[in-house]
Amino acid sequence: MLDVSGKTAFITGGASGMGWGMAKAFGEAGMKVVIADIRQEALDQAMEGFSKTNLAVYPILLDVTDRDGWAKAADEAEAQFGNIHVLCLNAGVGGGGMVQDMSYKDWDFGLGVNIGGVVNGLVTMLPRMLKHGEEGHIVATSSTGGFSAVGGVAVYCTAKFAVAGMMETVATDLKDTPIGASVFFPGPVQTSLGETTNATRPAHLRNAAPPPPPVAKEGEPPRRPVNFDPSLFMSPEEVGQRVLRGIRRKDLFIMTHPEFRDGIIARNEALLRAIPVEEPDEARAALVRQFGTLIYNPIYDTQKPLTEKL
Ligand code: NAI
Repeated sequence: MLDVSGKTAFITGGASGMGWGMAKAFGEAGMKVVIADIRQEALDQAMEGFSKTNLAVYPILLDVTDRDGWAKAADEAEAQFGNIHVLCLNAGVGGGGMVQDMSYKDWDFGLGVNIGGVVNGLVTMLPRMLKHGEEGHIVATSSTGGFSAVGGVAVYCTAKFAVAGMMETVATDLKDTPIGASVFFPGPVQTSLGETTNATRPAHLRNAAPPPPPVAKEGEPPRRPVNFDPSLFMSPEEVGQRVLRGIRRKDLFIMTHPEFRDGIIARNEALLRAIPVEEPDEARAALVRQFGTLIYNPIYDTQKPLTEKL
């Protein structure tokens, strides 16, 4: 178990939604927390709430796509709270539309924040976390759309699959260091992702006209359930607790919703069905084995089953 008490967390997209939920959970667990976000007004609003508590929370204005901004934010966070131990690369943007309607601007915006922002955080923060040598953990927020593809959100799914692969490889490379890594796969959560996506999209990456809304083909289930009830979405507070548990347990994968089990099974079974039926060639197998984790990565064995409810 990772002992989080007294440690410092840095959370991107920390001013609202899930990032805010993580900040609350971490603060209540005795951590010092930096919330970094692109929206000053959302940081102010979050701090208004946190200032009424005794939690140690500090706001930093940061656009995760800004690499110089990352270096300054890291310096400011360390000046405020010392070494960073837990890094949550959570800032993200949504955005829907059929792949055939996606422009370069749609791809650049979605991948820039959802992949680029995570890469920038990793490149800025990881050397600092390794240098201080204390135990720590990195979590990046993917989505259930990061393990099971969804129609009508091509840019988003591309990015979230990338984040998942990235964190699995990060965990592999860091396995002999004091820094652990998780990929977080939330299902539907009560946040304002749609509005913040629109509010944070820079002018040079806006289309002249928005893409038409995605439509389901005949016979397909609707893109959004007809009786769509956002109150059934998980609360950011519960999400924060689930992420905290995952960090403490040093889980490779952190999930919110057991309801997505079928999607995981369906994709992995499809992969298994696609395996060529020919007998493996011994010489070729020996060659591939020389690539080590290419055939079999023991990092997946590190995921312990969850046996207790939250
Ligand atoms: P949210 O909109 O409440 O939080 C996202 C935060 O990121 C906002 O405060 C926003 O200002 C910030 N942000 C956006 N672009 C930024 C940038 N360039 N630099 C710094 N901060 C930036 O939405 P939510 O849902 O809490 O989003 C958090 C993460 O969860 C995102 O990565 C999202 O893709 C992911 N997610 C959300 C789901 C949901 O149901 N709400 C489901 C699965 C994944």
